[in-house]
Amino acid sequence: MERTLSIIKPDGVARGLAGEVIKRLEQNNLKITAMKMLRMTKSQAKGFYDVHRERPFFESLTDFMVSGPIIVMILEGENAIGRYRELMGATDYREAAQGTIRKDFATDIEKNVVHGSDGPETAAFEIGYFFNSFEITG
Ligand code: CMP
Repeated sequence: MERTLSIIKPDGVARGLAGEVIKRLEQNNLKITAMKMLRMTKSQAKGFYDVHRERPFFESLTDFMVSGPIIVMILEGENAIGRYRELMGATDYREAAQGTIRKDFATDIEKNVVHGSDGPETAAFEIGYFFNSFEITG
């Protein structure tokens, strides 16, 4: 069993794609064990994406991530990190495989609808960033 953090980004929430994303998670047997909607502050967004601090897109990315509410979830299942990444598709929607969330819905390399942890250590950090132990079921 593995856990990963999923975010439906401000573009996904604003465009009414939350139901579609959640449906795909459920259909693919990624169990949602925690979920909430919130709007990050700029400093929370910077802390979350700290690994990208030196990247040219950092300012724009963190501005985008605070532009509206997001939905954060913990997903659980066998190989949950890898399976969720497959469902999302490549960061750049133009390179994403057919049938993936980003291929179907992303409009931009930044506004790519969803986020998912990229490995077990990142997942532990990202889950702890948003949830405490009392908020996690299952
Ligand atoms: P995410 O998986 O949340 O991780 C970092 C985010 O930075 C990425 O999705 C995109 O939203 C955003 N981003 C913007 N430009 C780039 C880029 N050139 N390469 C990678 N990520 C980018």
